[in-house]
Amino acid sequence: MCGIFGYLGKRDNALEIVIKGLQKLEYRGYDSWGVATDLNGELFSHKKVGKISEANLDDFKDKKVKLAIGHTRWATHGGVTNANAHPHFDPEKQIAVVHNGIIENYQEIREELGKENFVSETDTEVIAHLIAKYRKDYSFKEAVLKAVQRLVGRYAIVVLNVGENYLIAARRGSPLIVGVGEDEAFLASDIPAFLEYTQNVNYLDDNEMVIVNDGVEFLNLETGEPIKKRLVNIDWQAESAEKGEYDHFMLKEIMEQKDCIHRAINQDTDEIMHIAQQIKDSRGCFLSGCGTAGKVCMAGEYFFSIIAKRHVNFAPSSEFPVYHHFLRPESLLIVISQSGETADVLEAMEAAKKKGAKVLSIVNVEGSTIARQSDFSLHIKAGPEKAVASTKAATSQMALLLLIATAMIGELQEGRRILAEVASKINDMLNPRFLTYIKSVAEKIKDQENAYIIGKAENYPMALEAAIKIQEVSYVHAEGFAAGELKHGPIALITEGTPCISFVANDEVKQDVINNTMELKARGAYIIGISPDNHDVFDEWIKVPDVGVASPLVNIVPIQILAYYIAVLRGLDPDMPRNLAKSVTVK
Ligand code: AGP
Repeated sequence: MCGIFGYLGKRDNALEIVIKGLQKLEYRGYDSWGVATDLNGELFSHKKVGKISEANLDDFKDKKVKLAIGHTRWATHGGVTNANAHPHFDPEKQIAVVHNGIIENYQEIREELGKENFVSETDTEVIAHLIAKYRKDYSFKEAVLKAVQRLVGRYAIVVLNVGENYLIAARRGSPLIVGVGEDEAFLASDIPAFLEYTQNVNYLDDNEMVIVNDGVEFLNLETGEPIKKRLVNIDWQAESAEKGEYDHFMLKEIMEQKDCIHRAINQDTDEIMHIAQQIKDSRGCFLSGCGTAGKVCMAGEYFFSIIAKRHVNFAPSSEFPVYHHFLRPESLLIVISQSGETADVLEAMEAAKKKGAKVLSIVNVEGSTIARQSDFSLHIKAGPEKAVASTKAATSQMALLLLIATAMIGELQEGRRILAEVASKINDMLNPRFLTYIKSVAEKIKDQENAYIIGKAENYPMALEAAIKIQEVSYVHAEGFAAGELKHGPIALITEGTPCISFVANDEVKQDVINNTMELKARGAYIIGISPDNHDVFDEWIKVPDVGVASPLVNIVPIQILAYYIAVLRGLDPDMPRNLAKSVTVK
């Protein structure tokens, strides 16, 4: 949530670089934006409510500066106004700060520094005021150190001080990455922001600070001592983070799924076997994640149960800390996250670690906080996922869990074969005719206010995931249920024409799901069947390949497409749904 970006270097169009970088971080927050620089010894700033993608670069062309900072906001403290947009300043307008995170003790600091001196409702403004206070007696570097030592909460900040030709950034709990180019450096919340300039990065860890001037210098936030960091080369190509021929990232990422599954299963055999063994050796294994990643975990529960005959417990990460009563050193927590930065997941990991349990993570963003704070981490290699709705990351994560389940019973090669076939069937499925048909279904239901989705066994989590996809991008009220649960209450919601999606796989529960679908049809529901075979009960049939226990991987794809088209047909931007952000770094 919130994207921050800072540039310092040889180019004199720093404002333009910062704005373009922030446009690539827009998925992190898009209610308002702002930039600041030192323009001939005076603070220049520009803030605006709205999306940074709508910024006019021409407005900044005449400002030749080699250093700038900027921010794209997802509001936490204070409404969406120009005053609350970042950067925030001290009263003398000498210090400018951009921030991602939450300062928990901001009220107390505000009181101390005089509430009347503040012009915004944000928690961030106290950082600028605090730095300015210490700046009276200390150097810029010392003032930042002293100020951040007062902060309670999570933050990644970038600070500029008028008259000082360098930037300072610090992190505790929110992501911050340093891109290191030739005679230039970039400070950003995520790598795609500067990928067109450099692929060499330093990951800032918690309680670290970086000073960017002629080079980059890292310090420990608490002691001020210098730290040595390793420069990492990222193998993402700049184009992989661009929309290319597609109107939206969401559609592009849906279409990429065939390749992603291949990459996800192409893991080092020893690593997969090591993980499989750790699960087998653990006493109490938990799967945890949030939102879509949580539904992936639930699918994993079924994969481990059906394939490896092993019970694994799922808990959403926001609930997981409550499980601390059950945790012990022999427990294993497997966390799943696309961004690798989700605050609730980090908290779940903390709870597990406190009890001495091991943490394994499955993430998409290499070098992310979750990856680095785990005992062991697997990278799903799906490439940058920019649309807020998770699609390719989810199917890649499910592929990896299924692969691990097969490894647990000594069938890794067979697992690879099954998943390679799934990838190739998804490839066949994603043809223009398939998309056109789903778009026609979307046309029929786009004006409905409610939609319900049912699934059973390994497709029950997909019913829940389908609901998230439809809710978040199209704002249609959608709910997923275990197929057998409807008759215990929710069936009262069905009226003539209510769209109901039913996942009917060729598995041992097929007849049960058909029966439950018929119960819906008898109450007037308009049935959209997702199944390898047609059935009389379906009003619409979206044919998917028969891939046995891997059915969740193919079943969710048409729903991703359906959600996408409903959003587009309703005139919405599926990449940037209201109220949401791609990476949720607040609790
Ligand atoms: C998915 O479409 C959502 N936008 C959201 O539920 C997401 O999956 C969740 O916030 C977890 O994110 P993560 O995978 O980056 O941890």
